[in-house]
Amino acid sequence: MQAPLSWLGSRLPLIQAPMAGAQDAGLALAVGAAGGLGSLPAALLGPDALRSQMHRLQSAGRPWLVNFFAHHPPAPDPVVEARWVERLRPWAQALGLDAEAAAPRGAVRQPFGPATCELLEAFRPTVVSFHFGLPPDDLLNRVRRTGARIVCSATTLREARWLEARGVDAVIAQGLEAGGHRGHFLDPDPSLQGPTLELLQAWRAQVKVPLIAAGGITDADDVRAAMASGAAAVQVGTAFLCCEEALTSSLHRTRLLDPHAPTALTNLFSGGLARGLENRLMRELGPVCADAPPFPLASPALAPLRERAEALGRDDFTPLWSGKRRGGCRTAPAAEVVAALARGFAWNAPAPQPLSPAPT
Ligand SMILES: Cc1cc2nc3c(=O)[nH]c(=O)nc-3n(C[C@H](O)[C@H](O)[C@H](O)COP(=O)(O)O)c2cc1C
Repeated sequence: MQAPLSWLGSRLPLIQAPMAGAQDAGLALAVGAAGGLGSLPAALLGPDALRSQMHRLQSAGRPWLVNFFAHHPPAPDPVVEARWVERLRPWAQALGLDAEAAAPRGAVRQPFGPATCELLEAFRPTVVSFHFGLPPDDLLNRVRRTGARIVCSATTLREARWLEARGVDAVIAQGLEAGGHRGHFLDPDPSLQGPTLELLQAWRAQVKVPLIAAGGITDADDVRAAMASGAAAVQVGTAFLCCEEALTSSLHRTRLLDPHAPTALTNLFSGGLARGLENRLMRELGPVCADAPPFPLASPALAPLRERAEALGRDDFTPLWSGKRRGGCRTAPAAEVVAALARGFAWNAPAPQPLSPAPT
């Protein structure tokens, strides 16, 4: 068994997965107070929101993690975008949206850049995590100089080794069960990827840096299995989605709590492959559609459909991100989910270290 990751600074080697769109610092603070490492997802936050959320976390005086996307945004292609709008037209028309209202709108996810790096330099989080690979070396070196530990998701051994060669402190082994976007950046074909325990068992002898298990971990038995398979920590997302401190919508919560609702990998909502609960668009268009623009350019065209359907109380066009396993989801304080998972760790972890004061 791997030694648990003490540099996380939390009492337990348990990371609450960053979940853009479903949480803010509130969930991270609750998990931190309960002994896990709380995470702030930054992908959908503008600079002002990011600053105020990081200030909340830094002010609490506990270790914390902030997470960024490091994708390479493609140049928008008007032909591809027009084809996507055309593909969505029958559903837009059924909702009474005219062509103009159905045109793409809204901001798309921006990758980690120099301005965000300046904020990191001011706030100095304990851990910085990346999804979709790493930023360029100059930025990565700046992150490293803040003193933060750097971790990143990998979905194949090739990706894990690439990250190790770039000097990450730990690799997140994201199994196929995981909810939300696949973090792949070299191997987008999901048939090359595998479930969490298989990744751990296959990588443990091949990757020297510690592995963090992500995907399908919902209870103490899952924690035990991940740690026994070579993980030095676990990262849990879906099990926290119904917590009182999460910002998950009521439409999303209702579906998460349905034990029979199936999930699938889909590219419809952003253009990138992600796991979510099946909804009408996924069933009627197929969960994967070649006409969807590449990540992250598929989402703006869907925004008006989603908005109109949600106003009618329907989740037909809403991304309902969820892992395959939802047994740990409960409508309860996050501390209860942390306590349930904590039973899977066999040791008494040391108390966390105090942090430097927050910048004003
Ligand atoms: C609603 C939701 C949103 C997510 N958003 C992010 C994100 O912003 N950044 C990230 O690195 N991972 C994100 N993920 C993926 C998680 O980091 C993690 O891989 C996954 O939750 C683990 O699987 P589990 O959901 O079965 O616990 C998200 C997952 C979910 C369920």
